[in-house]
Formats: sequence, C-alpha cells, structure tokens
Amino acid sequence: MAERVIPLIDERLAPLAATVPVNAAPPTGLLTDTRGRPLRDLRISVTDRCNFRCSYCMPKEVFDKHYRYLPHSDLLSFEEITRLARLFLAHGVRKIRLTGGEPLLRKDLDKLVAQLSALRTLEGQVPDLTLTTNGSLLARKARALKAAGLQRVTVSLDSLDDAVFRRMNDVDFPVAEVLAGIEAAQAAGFAHIKVNMVVKRGTNDHEIPALARHFRGTGITLRFIEYMDVGATNGWRMDEVLPSAEVIARLQADLPLVPLAAQSPGETAQRWGYAGADGRHDPRLGEVGTISSVTQAFCGDCNRARLSMEGRLYLCLFAAQGWDLRSLLRGGASDEQISAAVAHIWQGRSDRYSELRASLPPDQGQGRRRIEMSYIGG
Ligand code: GTP
Ligand code: 5AD
Ligand code: SF4
Ligand code: SF4
Repeated sequence: MAERVIPLIDERLAPLAATVPVNAAPPTGLLTDTRGRPLRDLRISVTDRCNFRCSYCMPKEVFDKHYRYLPHSDLLSFEEITRLARLFLAHGVRKIRLTGGEPLLRKDLDKLVAQLSALRTLEGQVPDLTLTTNGSLLARKARALKAAGLQRVTVSLDSLDDAVFRRMNDVDFPVAEVLAGIEAAQAAGFAHIKVNMVVKRGTNDHEIPALARHFRGTGITLRFIEYMDVGATNGWRMDEVLPSAEVIARLQADLPLVPLAAQSPGETAQRWGYAGADGRHDPRLGEVGTISSVTQAFCGDCNRARLSMEGRLYLCLFAAQGWDLRSLLRGGASDEQISAAVAHIWQGRSDRYSELRASLPPDQGQGRRRIEMSYIGG
C-alpha cells in the first residue's frame, strides 16, 4: 500500500481582485457561466473553526494548537453577509446553505438566520435556507434556529458505533450526543432532515447497512458521500474511496432500492427509494442518496457558488483562489457595483474539477494547492 503523505501546508493563496466592469447591466437572474450553468446555490461559510478533527477534513497533525485561524475582524459581519446574499438572490440564487467549519460555533448564528430569512428570491419566495452541521451543538440550538427561520438541516454522521465515531471525529465526541441533536431538530419541527455519511473504505464502510436501517422509515434521508480529495491536508488515496455503485450493491441484498428521478437540476445526490413488497418505491420507507464526486462527476450543471467567512467568492470546491468581495464591501462599493462584479466573475467561470480529475497532470490535480473543506464548507 502506498505510504500516506500529509503535507503540512494550508496557506490560502492571495485572493483575486474583484473588479467592477464598466457599463454594468442590472441583474436579470439569467446569469450563466462559460459552460451555460446558472447561479442557483450560495454556500456561505461562517467560520473556519470546528470542534471536531475528522481526518478527512481537519487532520490533527495540521489543525493543531499552532494553526492560525482567522481573527474575528477578518470575518464578514452578519450585515455584510446578508448584503451579499441579497445581491446573489437578485442574480437568481434560490438556496442558501450555511456551513463552516462548524457553523454553530459562530456566535448568535440564529441572528444571521433571521436576517437571511427576511430576504426574497427573484420570484418573491423565501430562499431555501439550510445548514450543514456536525450536530454536536444542535440539541442546544435547534429551537432557536427554527424560530429564526431556518428551514432545513443536514447533519454529518459517519458512524453509529460509538468507538468508530469517536475515532473518526478524533476528539472523542460521543455519537449519542449527535443522535440527540438530530432528535432535537425533529422535535423543533425541522422536516426533510438529511444525514451525510462520508464513506471511507476500511474505516466505516462496514457500517453502511446499520446507518441505512437506522434511518429507513424515519423521514430522514441518509446520503453516502464518496471520500473526496478536497484540500491538501487529508492524505487522500483512491483506495480508500468506496464507489457509490458498490454502496448501492451492498445495500440491495437486504434493503431493495429503486432509482428515483432528480428533484432539481444540478443536484449533488442521486436518489434511491426503498422498495416495498411490490418492488416499487414505498414513500413511507423513504430514500437514500449517493454523492459520487469521484466516480461520477456532477460538474455538468453545477450551479453552486461558495462565499468564505472572509468574503472571498470561490467558484469550485476544488478552487485554489477566491475573488475578494470583502474589499469591495469595505471599500465603499455600491450594491450595483458589487452586483456587477459578481456577474462578471460568474460569467467567466469554467471550473469542473471533478470531471477533469483523472486527466489532470499531478501538479494540477492531486499535487495542486487548494482550499480546505473546513474553510469553504461542503
Ligand atoms: P440538498 O439541497 O440538501 O440536497 O443539499 P446538497 O446535496 O446540495 O448539499 P450538501 O451540502 O449536503 O452536500 C453534500 C456533500 O456533497 C457535501 O458535503 C460535499 O461532500 C459534496 N458536495 C456538495 N457540493 C459539491 C460540489 O459542488 N462539488 C463536489 N465535488 N462535491 C460537492
Ligand atoms: N470528502 C467528502 N466529504 C467531505 N466532507 C468533509 N470533507 C470531506 C471529504 N474529504 C463533508 C462532511 C460534511 C461536509 C461539511 O463535508 O462530511 O458532511
Ligand atoms: Fe468539522 Fe465537518 Fe470538517 Fe468534521 S467534516 S472536521 S465536523 S467541518
Ligand atoms: Fe461544481 Fe467544482 Fe464540484 Fe464540479 S468539482 S460539481 S464544478 S464545485
């Protein structure tokens, strides 16, 4: 087996300067990038900190006590985030996801949720407002988040076995508290809760059936995520990826599944419904999803933009550099100017890393410097 190499670097490259084009037109919601992809999904990372040290995301060797997190003054304020979100909505964004690091570590996050839920899409709808969390603080915060207008939550959960879970989060955090967080979210009235399991061959793949059984028939959708080569610190190796096709094949034996149609264009997950005795999808049993960034790239209709906690706009999860919107915000730019800068950036977008992964030379692919998942969120 190849030796694992974990480079001890995680330094963000300097940002790209966001410029305001002359003769900017007002937003129409019809913005597309160079590959014809619209902008629909805005993922906002609110902190670069996390209380877990999952080895596939924030390995302890790198994210130790010497690691330099961003100082508070570098973070966008809630007002700055809300202002940018409003401008993105005018460009056609319909879904806003709060991520981190661990977003619930950001103080008073419910206040940001309240500000974002007062915004409207171009069609005059409340945006689909959701949050990705490790669940550790959910039991305490679910009610306030719901009351503030959060619509959905997605909880990361890689194992039901306490020993495996503690090892994977690498801070000895008990699985029971995350399960209590999920229950609290249900009790607070969240519907359509999702649970994301990152599958690592040899680490937690033996738990696939246990997680499936646990959530089948509960109304919670479990999604299996192929372990990805995000960032430069997790020592990713292809032999630790369990292809989604194998996940489904393993489940089929005991828990028959049928493929379901996509709900909306640009979705990350392929949907699979649990079949009833008649072999057809039984909605009471619910569904699972597979997210196959490694074996079946879904860049073709990727409509996701990512905003970092320090106000940089990233056009791909695997990008090396982001566009500096904070300088515009803090330099006195008008809404029209910032909106035009965002349009210009999106129109120039050509990113499709997952599609290219296999064909890239080493210095462009695996060996290339790029942002960390803990910095930009899922
Ligand atoms: P829903 O609207 O709830 O279905 O959300 P989603 O599937 O868009 O978002 P979520 O954040 O739950 O994404 C699940 C996982 O898919 C993330 O944790 C990432 O591992 C992966 N993922 C999300 N977006 C992308 C993307 O644009 N590219 C790649 N390669 N992976 C992604
Ligand atoms: N591969 C796949 N998913 C990852 N996540 C973090 N790192 C990786 C990786 N290397 C997922 C987490 C969580 C979300 C924030 O991103 O499981 O669901
Ligand atoms: Fe934290 Fe989520 Fe990364 Fe784990 S995957 S270290 S919980 S941000
Ligand atoms: Fe989108 Fe980049 Fe992910 Fe492809 S790899 S789906 S372009 S974020």
